[in-house]
Amino acid sequence: MSHSISASAAGTFAIGGDLQVNRLGFGAMRITGPGIWGPPANHDAAIATLKRLPELDVNFIDTADAYGPYDSECLIKEALYPYTGLVVTTKGGLTRHGPEIWAPLGRPEYLRQCVLTSLRRLGVERFDLWQLHRVDPKVPRDEQFDAIAAMQREGLIRHVGLSEVPVDDIEAAQKYFKVATVQNQYNLVDRKSEDVLDFCEKHGIGFIPWFPLAAGELAKPGSIVNTIAKEHGVTTGAIALAWLLKRSRVMLPIPGTGSVDHLIENVAGASVKLSDAQFQELDRQGREAARAN
Ligand SMILES: NC(=O)c1ccc[n+]([C@@H]2O[C@H](COP(=O)([O-])OP(=O)(O)OC[C@H]3O[C@@H](n4cnc5c(N)ncnc54)[C@H](OP(=O)(O)O)[C@@H]3O)[C@@H](O)[C@H]2O)c1
Repeated sequence: MSHSISASAAGTFAIGGDLQVNRLGFGAMRITGPGIWGPPANHDAAIATLKRLPELDVNFIDTADAYGPYDSECLIKEALYPYTGLVVTTKGGLTRHGPEIWAPLGRPEYLRQCVLTSLRRLGVERFDLWQLHRVDPKVPRDEQFDAIAAMQREGLIRHVGLSEVPVDDIEAAQKYFKVATVQNQYNLVDRKSEDVLDFCEKHGIGFIPWFPLAAGELAKPGSIVNTIAKEHGVTTGAIALAWLLKRSRVMLPIPGTGSVDHLIENVAGASVKLSDAQFQELDRQGREAARAN
């Protein structure tokens, strides 16, 4: 069944104007242990999931040094090196002190360590896209952006992305480098970053919504996402992804899973063409649910 399922059905986006990827990507946070800490319970399933990505034309893979930490990057190298035809992007700037514990650290020397050690783990000399996982509120943001700009000038990073930022941070960062992508939490029922998405669309910045599969109560039997999923013969997650892809041409969802079956179900969302009426009704009910959350 999977042979007809392809991420290319989502269309493409050129990150930074010249790094073309299929718009439906993959998030590699879930191929780790509970609490995103340590290795995955099933190493072989994680490797099999990663190896399936090129076969499904998923060529945009998001990870971070903090996932494990390090386990996600190491598994990606084990399964996919030398990444022919793939864009593997990582993030740095978050430290880990146990399961579900994440602490930003934006000292320039630490950001440099993040980039240099991720390059080693992934076995590459330069990142096509490197993302600042968090702007550290304890360090002047200009110092963090300046350190990243220096690494870009040095040739360690081609394009730069930011994560969990308001428009104000994007504008401040643009004084140091062109912001190529923004990765914020966003889905049908979480619309807090609507203004950031609109800004990204206006300026041709790729918007990477994390937690893209969420649809909350709207995915329950008899509710709108469930009903539309049945009409299209796909899962509710695939409908959540199809809605995101139709929402904006700069949208690059990165659903994550450690299971091949779930991966195939998610990539099926690339081919779903929602009617305008379906899109609008999903949008309306999603906004209502978001307001109630
Ligand atoms: N920038 C940031 O601060 C930030 C924060 C969080 C995440 N991210 C990135 O965004 C990516 C996606 O975010 P996310 O993992 O939070 O959300 P998500 O991809 O929307 O959801 C992942 C969850 O859904 C499950 N799942 C996936 N496909 C499924 C399917 N077809 N049927 C049933 N369950 C399914 C997964 O479990 P199974 O493994 O069992 O399938 C996992 O528990 C991450 O991988 C990471 O790269 C970034």
